[in-house]
Amino acid sequence: MHCTRHVSEDLIWVGGNDRRLAMFEGVYSVPDGVSYNSYLLLDDTTVLFDTVDRAVDRVFFENVAYALGGRSLDYIVVSHMEPDHSATLRELLLRYPDAVIVCNQKSFDMMKRFGYVDSGCDPYLVKEGDLLRTGHHEITFVMAPMVHWPEVMMSYDVTTGTLFSADAFGTFGALNGNLFADEVDFMRDYLNEARRYYTNIVGKYGPQVQAVLKKAAKLDLNMICPLHGFVWRRNLGDYMEKYQKWSLYEPEEQGVLIAYASVYGNTENAAEILATKLRERGAVVTMIDVSVKPASEVVAAAFRYSHLVFASTTYNAEIFVRMDEALRDLIAHNIQNRTLAFLENGSWAPTSGKKMKELFAACKNMTVIDPLVTVKSALSSDQLSALDTLADAIASTLPIAKPAPASVAAPVAGATDPTALFQLSYGLFVVTTREGEKDNGCITNTAIQVASNPNRIAISVNKQNYTHDLIARTGMFNVCVLTENAGFDLFKRFGFSSGRDTEKFAGFNAVRRTANGLLAVTESVNTIFSGHVVEAVDCGSHTLFVADITESEVLSKVPSVTYAYYFAHIKPKPQPKTEEKTKWVCKVCGYEYEGDEMPDDYTCPLCKHGKEDFEKVEAQPVKKTVKWVCKVCGYEYEGEQLPDDYTCPLCKHGKEDFERVEN
Ligand code: FEO
Repeated sequence: MHCTRHVSEDLIWVGGNDRRLAMFEGVYSVPDGVSYNSYLLLDDTTVLFDTVDRAVDRVFFENVAYALGGRSLDYIVVSHMEPDHSATLRELLLRYPDAVIVCNQKSFDMMKRFGYVDSGCDPYLVKEGDLLRTGHHEITFVMAPMVHWPEVMMSYDVTTGTLFSADAFGTFGALNGNLFADEVDFMRDYLNEARRYYTNIVGKYGPQVQAVLKKAAKLDLNMICPLHGFVWRRNLGDYMEKYQKWSLYEPEEQGVLIAYASVYGNTENAAEILATKLRERGAVVTMIDVSVKPASEVVAAAFRYSHLVFASTTYNAEIFVRMDEALRDLIAHNIQNRTLAFLENGSWAPTSGKKMKELFAACKNMTVIDPLVTVKSALSSDQLSALDTLADAIASTLPIAKPAPASVAAPVAGATDPTALFQLSYGLFVVTTREGEKDNGCITNTAIQVASNPNRIAISVNKQNYTHDLIARTGMFNVCVLTENAGFDLFKRFGFSSGRDTEKFAGFNAVRRTANGLLAVTESVNTIFSGHVVEAVDCGSHTLFVADITESEVLSKVPSVTYAYYFAHIKPKPQPKTEEKTKWVCKVCGYEYEGDEMPDDYTCPLCKHGKEDFEKVEAQPVKKTVKWVCKVCGYEYEGEQLPDDYTCPLCKHGKEDFERVEN
């Protein structure tokens, strides 16, 4: 039975999903399946954009026939003739013999060699910029050699701004009914597989991808229709930004990948200890055992992280076979611009470290952190310091909290007025961050521009905040500038609880993901900045994160909220208790009537007894209470005195940020 979905009114997805494929291209595991996309345009003439793999041919042919609804098929555009998109071409031509193939010369030559067309086939050959008019639509062609094969081209529907992008912007994973990327949480649930797809399929061809991105930047893009994975109709920039980073071989995250090969667990033990030491120094770390994870995962993780540590046992006087395979695969994919470190093991002649280092000699712009750590059989206690030294050296090149340099002159103390700080003016902001799958955010009043060339901002975050730890480890944050329209609930959501035990974004939909993959609040926010930390300054209770602005967007012109405005207009005022009133309490059901006198004909609204069943309770004087209210988050502490070292349990501000309130 057919299974199609409309992409737009006259464009229909007619592809299929394969969840039984063990190895895509015979080498990449696809545990969540893969989709083969094909799109049918129903204009005055009908145009099919690519076909599918044989694995889904049955549903594909049913889809095409159903979507055509009895019409003829006029054109078949072949963007990419690799068999996962063209293997059904021959049979399609048998079913629709009048259809004209639209392709470039290189593609046609390859088609003939694969046996997908006969020598008598007469295609419509196109070059860069050629046009195909289908009635209401005008299709132009954009050559994209080596993204992923040399014959690849993309088709651009000028009328609708739709780019049929061939393999580019695809992902592994079956669609599961979701045709559009905005129907899933792509950055959370699919980015890993999208990265594995990109890095392994076209990672080697960064310059060619860059050339296509430059062409795409000149197009008025509304939608991207790739041959695998989701159609993009919203937030196209999010995914484009990933492609920018990947194709430029820039790491997405400042963090450490430790890939290790261990026969009896001793190399693994040394790698684990190094990971622990790095984490203790604030670094983001992930580990891969190359004996159980495919090389494609090593390649994807290496494109993600800035620092790569390879730990391998020596085997037959060489690098351990699975590590050797993974490294050669990684290097074949053109990895560059990374910081490297190595750890080797060998019971009698350790050589794997030197050999691993030699393999990377061909890669561009690699920084190697020495010395190489050598383990003989198992790590000995006197070698722990070598791992400390390596962890220090790696951490020193990551943007994580570092101690401030010693002052050049002794401070000269004068009198200090604790209320002086209240005279500083502040704005209020939601700072968001993300580590792994965890999104988090908090309220801060300290976000400022600190430089204009380059454009840099800084935020100060209390070390006790969970957000602090995530930023310290990932080096990424967004600042969402709150407006005077912000309600108190927004401050409560992000300021009055900890992300350690709550999901700050649960049930909150006024968000979008910025190109760095982090959430940004879009409600009562006039501007969003994305920051990439370049320096972290330890300021005592807080860390100052200085960051390059990697993205910014103005959402509205509503004035930014100031700290003073928040207190005057947003934060609810503590309500002093009014004098207690005289009450009449029903002796039968407990209902309370307030007032000095009760009417003679009064009847209890609950039990229907009359005035005679009520007893009068005289008003009591209200006991005077003293509270200390946190000016930052509104938390209330009851008591005559607030201890000097008191810290707000919600927002972690100290005594100086509390004001005394008497009731
Ligand atoms: Fe999806 Fe390059 O084939």
